[in-house]
Amino acid sequence: MKSEYDFIAIIYDPVLYIFLKPIRIAVMNMLLEYKEKSILDLCCGTGNQLKLLEKNGFKDLHCLDISNKMLEIARKKNLTIKIYNEDATKTNFKNELFDIVIISFALHEKNRITQKKIIEEVYRLIKKEGFVLVVDYNFDKKTDKLIKIGINIIERLGGKEHYNNFKNYIRNRGLLSLIKKDKFTLIKANKRLFNGVVISMYQKTIS
Ligand SMILES: C[S@@+](CC[C@H](N)C(=O)[O-])C[C@H]1O[C@@H](n2cnc3c(N)ncnc32)[C@H](O)[C@@H]1O
Repeated sequence: MKSEYDFIAIIYDPVLYIFLKPIRIAVMNMLLEYKEKSILDLCCGTGNQLKLLEKNGFKDLHCLDISNKMLEIARKKNLTIKIYNEDATKTNFKNELFDIVIISFALHEKNRITQKKIIEEVYRLIKKEGFVLVVDYNFDKKTDKLIKIGINIIERLGGKEHYNNFKNYIRNRGLLSLIKKDKFTLIKANKRLFNGVVISMYQKTIS
């Protein structure tokens, strides 16, 4: 499938690796007690989060992205993880297949309708009492000013639509306005990158 990420796939890891590494480690640390569980990284990009999990003994790992070019980079890493080239808004997985879904730096760049579709799909895919771990931007009073400027520059480089979606995501209080309290319960939140990024772990609420 074609994606705007096809063009930047080749530079994604070299440019962002250094900034993302501490965040990847923090995600892994939040998941250490779930090494035997099935984990899907939705919008996984080049697969670096799962590469780290695999290296540290996680067993049942699945990686899904719409960009075949991003996945080509993931495939070159010779990981044992299962890789799927699909759309996160409508995957072909059956209901309640995964214990944990990760979505990392993917929601902020989508329009509101797509964000909602992805969150609904996550809810469908997670087992009863499973978890979703969302990594994305967080701008609050404690966020470092230089980090805000840096993130704005990076997002501006993504093009007009991408940047407008990012600005709306921040204006709408990020994830807080997307996650419905009757569907997910917040378990932990871990702020990183001088409070510019938050890793939020939610448990699926059983109705
Ligand atoms: C900013 S990158 C984040 C990649 C990775 N999660 C990370 O943390 O580095 C966003 C990714 O979302 C993917 N993506 C965008 N829309 C998607 C969709 N509808 N379904 C699946 N993947 C999508 C892009 O191809 C890209 O790889």
